[in-house]
Amino acid sequence: QKEGYRFFMEKEIYEQSYVMIETMMGRVLDENIILDELDKDFLDGINAIKICACGTSYHSALTAAYLFERLAKIRCDVEIASEFRYKEPLLGQDTLFITISQSGETADTLEALKMAKRAGLKSLSICNVDNSSIVRESDAAILTRAGIEKGVASTKAFATQTMVLWMLALYVGQEKATIAPEVLKTEIDAMRHTPKALTVTDELHAKLHRLSKRYLHGHGFFFIGRDIFFPLALEGALKLKEISYLHAEGYPAGEMKHGPIALADAELFTIALMPKTMHYEKIKSNVEELSARDATICAISPEPFDLADDFIQTQYCTHPMIEFFEMMVVTQLLALEISIRLGNDVDMPRNLAKSVTVE
Ligand code: M6R
Repeated sequence: QKEGYRFFMEKEIYEQSYVMIETMMGRVLDENIILDELDKDFLDGINAIKICACGTSYHSALTAAYLFERLAKIRCDVEIASEFRYKEPLLGQDTLFITISQSGETADTLEALKMAKRAGLKSLSICNVDNSSIVRESDAAILTRAGIEKGVASTKAFATQTMVLWMLALYVGQEKATIAPEVLKTEIDAMRHTPKALTVTDELHAKLHRLSKRYLHGHGFFFIGRDIFFPLALEGALKLKEISYLHAEGYPAGEMKHGPIALADAELFTIALMPKTMHYEKIKSNVEELSARDATICAISPEPFDLADDFIQTQYCTHPMIEFFEMMVVTQLLALEISIRLGNDVDMPRNLAKSVTVE
């Protein structure tokens, strides 16, 4: 039940702090990552990772690619399942094929998995539903433990998928000895701080409620970010599109000047993800360029930013993943508040289904 919340999506946003603890339970111990789901020899012979997924799950996959390469030093590429399945991909036998799916029933993801299996690849799924088709079809599965997600717009499933992928990147680094022990320790320390970063305060929610008034009309939205904040920008834009029916795009901040900046004017709303722990000066100059062309800027950052029309202050912290999760909550609440103001059915947006079992 909704337990006093207006919509399931709202309840699920608030649950994120708790479900992250569930997801970590028994898997983050002292200075190690323990994944009992994987046999001791599971990673033997694996030198690369390919991930296939759709929608929000694809965005967690894109985030993971940065983490696998940066933390575990293993090659990782990501494909949209509906594209992958009609390609003639060259698949190396040393590649671990990962699928990500909240429902475990997405037709395109399932078919991509079957293709990889026919090609003889080892498979792993990251899923929220035990005994789903994708879990059953995979050699191994890691469950996200987000609990039932009712809102069509995925929130807590995305958070827990990203958490599992972060743990998996550390696990690969740990098992293959490609991560330095002090880096592993720093990452695990940061991981333990994420549930707190996901706590929704009354002050934050009230601020987003007030601010959402300004963003109901206009040409559309650009969510911009760099590095792992680029997939987060894609996800922020998807959330907004799904439940508000406003046009929104996620874009790499450094790419705006290669075309989209032509759209900039006061009616173009830019949601700028400006973490302090990652490329702050770079993104700042990208946002300055947009502001100089009169775009309306909503900056999300720990660092006050003079040129912002609206500013949402996040906590100063020491790790990009903590900033990532904190900013994720801000973008989810922004989409929620805009959608509610527009009078939409947040949980059952038009034209969408929770589980897409047809291609
Ligand atoms: O169940 P899955 O994770 O495989 O679903 C994939 C997409 O259909 C899903 O993420 C969709 O994009 C959501 N509505 C996003 O909020």
